[in-house]
Amino acid sequence: MNIRKLVKGEKPPIELLLTADPSKLIVEEYVNRGDCFVAENERKIIGVYVLRPTRPETVELVNIAVVANQQGKGIGKQLVEDAIQKARLKGFQTIEIGTGNSSIGQLALYQKCGFRIIGVDIDFFTKHYLEEIFENGIHCRDMIRLSQNV
Ligand code: COA
Repeated sequence: MNIRKLVKGEKPPIELLLTADPSKLIVEEYVNRGDCFVAENERKIIGVYVLRPTRPETVELVNIAVVANQQGKGIGKQLVEDAIQKARLKGFQTIEIGTGNSSIGQLALYQKCGFRIIGVDIDFFTKHYLEEIFENGIHCRDMIRLSQNV
């Protein structure tokens, strides 16, 4: 597997990005402002993540996704670790990520990769998303904010 940054003019894998974030408007907004990295296997995209600077010295992992038939093989973990390394090499001090209160697997993954919960953005999803989101039988309403020093 090879991870590389998309160059100017290359189209980001929108359908894959939408599996992590159902709002096309929000995805397009941060893809335009951030750096999009893709993981490829034999030239086929199998994963993606987007890093976006948010404050001086802080970068946010705003999207991460692995194609459905490749999930559960450790690719997501490799992408998170790569994002942390990229943040460090670019001189950022902190990397942040936010996920839904219903995203049990994602919360496990991020904490296994060293992130700690630093706060909750109450009603983030009910305020910013038109459609209701349900995962693991849980209504996704709040955004759990996680962070780590790089
Ligand atoms: N409880 C405990 N641990 C869990 C878990 C759960 N419910 N679900 C996943 N994990 C763990 C795995 O066991 C693994 O840890 P390990 O290496 O110690 O075994 C770790 O999380 C990551 O597994 P990995 O195989 O690397 O993840 P993946 O390749 O399936 O990618 C996602 C993870 C989230 C990127 C992928 O599932 C995905 O694309 N989902 C759809 C998009 C999405 O939700 N993106 C995130 C939005 S916040």
